[in-house]
Amino acid sequence: MAQPPVDSDVDVVILGAGSGGYACALRAAQLGLSVVLVEQDKLGGTCLHVGCIPTKALLHAAELADGARESEQFGVRATFEGVDADRVVAYADGVVGRLHKGLTGLIGSRGITVVSGAGTLTGPHEVTVDGTAYRGRNVVLATGSEPRLLPGIEVDGTRILTSDHALRLDPLPSSAIVLGGGVIGCEFASLWRSFGIEVTVVEALPRLVPPEDAASSAALQRAFRKRGIDVRTGATVESAKATDTGVEVVTGDATLTADVLLVAVGRAPRTEGLGYAEQGVTLERGFVVVDERCATGVDGVWAVGDIVPGLQLAHRGFQQGIYVAEQIAGLVPRPIDERGIPRVTYSRPEVASVGITEEQAVAEHGADGVRTLTYDLAGNGRSQILKTQGFVKLVRKVDGPVLGIHLVGDRVGELIGEAQLIYGWEAHPEDVAPLVHAHPTQNEALGEAHLALAGKPLHTHD
Ligand code: NAI
Repeated sequence: MAQPPVDSDVDVVILGAGSGGYACALRAAQLGLSVVLVEQDKLGGTCLHVGCIPTKALLHAAELADGARESEQFGVRATFEGVDADRVVAYADGVVGRLHKGLTGLIGSRGITVVSGAGTLTGPHEVTVDGTAYRGRNVVLATGSEPRLLPGIEVDGTRILTSDHALRLDPLPSSAIVLGGGVIGCEFASLWRSFGIEVTVVEALPRLVPPEDAASSAALQRAFRKRGIDVRTGATVESAKATDTGVEVVTGDATLTADVLLVAVGRAPRTEGLGYAEQGVTLERGFVVVDERCATGVDGVWAVGDIVPGLQLAHRGFQQGIYVAEQIAGLVPRPIDERGIPRVTYSRPEVASVGITEEQAVAEHGADGVRTLTYDLAGNGRSQILKTQGFVKLVRKVDGPVLGIHLVGDRVGELIGEAQLIYGWEAHPEDVAPLVHAHPTQNEALGEAHLALAGKPLHTHD
């Protein structure tokens, strides 16, 4: 077969400019490598355009709606009149637009060659875009993910939605069913409820956000119910269809109706039809199999981000991208500890965690080898001021380091940074206990929890 013309010969060709791909490009360029970055859509990928950033903008608008509605509790007179969906979307678009402009400028300033178009892997060291081949000493696959669909449930974008559509709903529906009580399902359920929408969440497993510690799931579920969200766990959606007036969803024991249905049952890796398998890259259930260095079995071919099995999080993608770039440049970076990757669900209340759950810790070290401590946010001044409820739960190895930190409450996502350091540096509670935490902050709750676990409780009872 005739080879397409070879237009370029660089150190790294990266397929996909989402979090994983562009971070790899930036770090590689910084290390003096020549880089071609191929992207069929916009620089920034899912996270920037239809994921982390726009959803968190919507969630901020939701917080303001709740603030207006609940202001009387704080002695402030305000009336909540409603939400202008178009203006909320415009606000989110503004945030995304500014970040996109900044990212585009940054990538340009680092001397990275950006190729617009859909690329396929046509050789172990070759990506072809519209008939032009780009050869690299290394190729990094970073094609990301897309909403997973369920057979028999037809997404039409108006009544049956994925998160891509749910971001731009205008007008807002008056009722919604959310299929899947994972991270996406809980974030949309939360923000829609704040916008005044009647929400039902249907989750097949016995609890919301199932990978989280059971205590976090229970607290979120309680809070959601208190907020008037109809949470149905242990209920599998068997079928769903659009009707003239909305949607009809059948679960094991009920038929539910609403204006719209959001399908949030996970994200599928985008690896089909891209030439990966043909070039010898091993795929398993559509994911690219890699070793702990993010290397595929094919020499010089790496994979990062959502196509690699594990947590599908932007910050994991960034880190993997940087990690691969450094290896290509001949450095010996430390492998990424998946358990040390922080996780935040930005619902109201927020759920955040790092490390392992109590259940996992007990499975690994035995019930006698693990100690836990739960510090209730009721004892934290700042949380009282905010009128939020929740907790800090610590899991430690007896006489050993902190193995897991689990947080629930408004704004606790911002505390995950310290929690991550504690976990990442394998700190013992006794190491954290002497650190001074600013008063009054929610951070203090972390400090208090470690004091208590180190046997020196300050504001808790022995
Ligand atoms: P997910 O895997 O977190 O949750 C999907 C849920 O749907 C599961 O709990 C599953 O049991 C349930 N489910 C599947 N089929 C069902 C059925 N037929 N009936 C009822 N329930 C069913 O996936 P999700 O929420 O779509 O998120 C996708 C990815 O995006 C995740 O990896 C997530 O971590 C990431 N993400 C992260 C965010 C963050 O870090 N804040 C925000 C949004 C997404």
